[in-house]
Amino acid sequence: MKKVLVVYYSQSGQLKDIIDSTLAPLKETDHVSIEYEEIKPKKPYPYPWKTTFEFCNSFPESITETPCELEPFNFDPNGDYDLIIIAYTIWYLVPSIPITSFLKSPEARKLIKNKPVVTIIGCRNMWLLAQERVKEQVYHMGGRIAGNIVLADRAYNLIGIFTIWYWLVTGKKERLLKIFPKPGVSDKDIKAAARFGKPLLESLKKKEFNLDQSALNKMGAAKVYPTFIIFENRMIRIFRIWSKFILAKGGPDNPNRKFRVRMFLYYLLTAIFILAPLAAVLSIIIRLIKKKKLLEKVAYYSQNSFKNN
Ligand SMILES: Cc1cc2nc3c(=O)[nH]c(=O)nc-3n(C[C@H](O)[C@H](O)[C@H](O)COP(=O)(O)O)c2cc1C
Repeated sequence: MKKVLVVYYSQSGQLKDIIDSTLAPLKETDHVSIEYEEIKPKKPYPYPWKTTFEFCNSFPESITETPCELEPFNFDPNGDYDLIIIAYTIWYLVPSIPITSFLKSPEARKLIKNKPVVTIIGCRNMWLLAQERVKEQVYHMGGRIAGNIVLADRAYNLIGIFTIWYWLVTGKKERLLKIFPKPGVSDKDIKAAARFGKPLLESLKKKEFNLDQSALNKMGAAKVYPTFIIFENRMIRIFRIWSKFILAKGGPDNPNRKFRVRMFLYYLLTAIFILAPLAAVLSIIIRLIKKKKLLEKVAYYSQNSFKNN
């Protein structure tokens, strides 16, 4: 019997649906037992977020990867798991704060040492830098990333920003005004994620857990778009400056930082509606000039080893 531990944090339940679908083939066999660890912050993050301010107020601590306090874990950090699955969502280009908090815990360090880790990501569309953060931490803990499966929103970038914001602030995963597409990962894609469970199960049957990421990628596991390599790397630099600027006025509950959080919101709106279209044009030019370098980066982000860039 092989033992799998799934560590996850999902607000709306979308990521949990993705996990359930992906692991369906594992549940159909007696060879595998699956244990779930839902990460629970002591002070829960709101869902729905209700106000855009709340949504933006989680930004500085996300970027600086400042952990929050978590409820005690149920898993045994010294447990003899054959595979750890870390299923996570992305907040502002980095893993969500609850998952960051888990990764920084002493229990995670014990758990992950010498273990294969498969990551399952449920996000809007920008996951490359977040996965680098997870890769780095897993390798430093003595584990190894054995596979990566990403499910993202397929809507056009600008439309996706708008529809996902509506969903997360209202809690309604439905078509806004019946004109826009349904937000988030489509039901069809969630259902089809079961195809990834088959190679997972085959690998679990072997003595040592080994997945072939390029074979997974051929099934559509982790598609890397050159435009997002350019976008994410540019945005994270600007995000770091903004988070420093807001944090200079204090922590999440400090009223002194409200004005700066609002400034960040207006910056985001400007960036989305004015700068993003310009950046898209610029990225076409960069893609032509730096074609070779970008293709190397696509190859790098498509696999699981970690290189300090
Ligand atoms: C505060 C916040 C910031 C987010 N930032 C990103 C992001 O940078 N990139 C991305 O692809 N998705 C982003 N998302 C979407 C999430 O990754 C995720 O798809 C969504 O929150 C649904 O996840 P759930 O399963 O927890 O409900 C963000 C969500 C939240 C709440």
